[in-house]
Amino acid sequence: MPTLTFPKDFVWGAATSAYQIEGAWNEDGRGMSIWDTFSHTPGKVANNENGDVAVDHYHRYKDDIRLMTELGLKAYRFSTAWTRILPDGTGKVNKKGLDFYDRLIDELLKKKIEPYVCLFHWDLPQALQDKGGWTNRDTAYAFADYARIVTGLVSDRVKVVFTHNEPWVAAIVGHFLGEHAPGFKDPVQGIKALHHLLLSHGLAYEAIRASAKKPVKIGITLNLNPVYPASDSKKDREAANRTDAMLNRSVLDPLLKGTTPIQEFAVGKMLSSSLIKDGDMGKIKQLDLLGVNYYSRSVMKYDAKFPLVSAAQTFPEGNEYSGMWEIFPTGIYEILMRVSKDYKPSCELMVTENGIPVPDGLDFDGRVRDERRIRYLESHIAQVHRAVQDGVPVKGYFHWSLTDNFEWALGYGPRFGLVYVDYKTLKRTIKDSGRWFANVIRRNGLDA
Ligand code: FCB
Repeated sequence: MPTLTFPKDFVWGAATSAYQIEGAWNEDGRGMSIWDTFSHTPGKVANNENGDVAVDHYHRYKDDIRLMTELGLKAYRFSTAWTRILPDGTGKVNKKGLDFYDRLIDELLKKKIEPYVCLFHWDLPQALQDKGGWTNRDTAYAFADYARIVTGLVSDRVKVVFTHNEPWVAAIVGHFLGEHAPGFKDPVQGIKALHHLLLSHGLAYEAIRASAKKPVKIGITLNLNPVYPASDSKKDREAANRTDAMLNRSVLDPLLKGTTPIQEFAVGKMLSSSLIKDGDMGKIKQLDLLGVNYYSRSVMKYDAKFPLVSAAQTFPEGNEYSGMWEIFPTGIYEILMRVSKDYKPSCELMVTENGIPVPDGLDFDGRVRDERRIRYLESHIAQVHRAVQDGVPVKGYFHWSLTDNFEWALGYGPRFGLVYVDYKTLKRTIKDSGRWFANVIRRNGLDA
């Protein structure tokens, strides 16, 4: 018996998203998404890389499912590309697009791997962006329609559907910080997009409920970061509180309480009466499963220069860093406890993403010795166990990601996979961390 054993039915899985792995960007009738447009615009993505080929999962999904079997995964979380199913975002359904996900789900089930379907992982149809995208309320209704179409295909076999992956990132990083598609730098657009994304969750929740052939759990996946003040000063503590409201409460409050903290910000106050219509908040607050994506924490100090929050991120000395973030394992425990204590959610919780970018490479003998990832996973999974012990209803843990893949604006630089991909040949190699994770799954726990 491992010293840290998980509950008997704990779900161990790995996650991916359509644009990051599928490739085949213009095949079988797929329409253009905002990530095609963004990555094809020079200067937007590192080295001007794009997801045209990615890891060619569209053609190699059977090989990838074979790898999942080798890893012993119980579940696989992936996203459907809206543009494969409705190339123009609304209107005519593309049967070939639906067929791909049909084959994928059948193959997973054949290998006894539970499919966890996510409907939106940032690849909005360009045709909808041309009408304002998420800043236009109509997009929320179009999303509910798309949700109904996917439900029609999958609900005889799929038990869990997530509406969105990290709506905060899609809204704020895409519309306010400008680092992701569609690449706007406007706080007003960011707040509007966030509200419409959340509203679309509620509308899709109802559409899925009404059309599912069998019982299905409907979830959403959020990026949550515990926020800490850089010092004990009042200014820094207030800066941390504002950041927490903007980063965490802006999504948790609507989904779990039916309220919103956006009025605490000047632009939010200005917008809220025209943006939030009667009944919106009640629709948003419908959820069976909350997915938590955890990577790092935020340590904030007061800085008047930054719009909205007047706070800037600091990077404390003395801790280990990955290529992208500070490594802070207790943060995953703290955020799970915080959700549980502050919100007392009636829904289940799952860790739907956790992982680290490591500059992995093939060794002389063809192995990938990614000890750093193993250490990261060991320390984070131990903290998830601690949260379970302390009564948080965490039902599963999904590693990000199955394979190395296209890391958005950072291109192919950061490698997050349990499986190494040679981007020239697209050959896959299970990393040492993959073997290690397989062992955790087999034993349903680990030795701390
Ligand atoms: C999350 C995203 C995922 C991946 C990881 C590293 O924010 O959901 O697609 O980029 O970060």
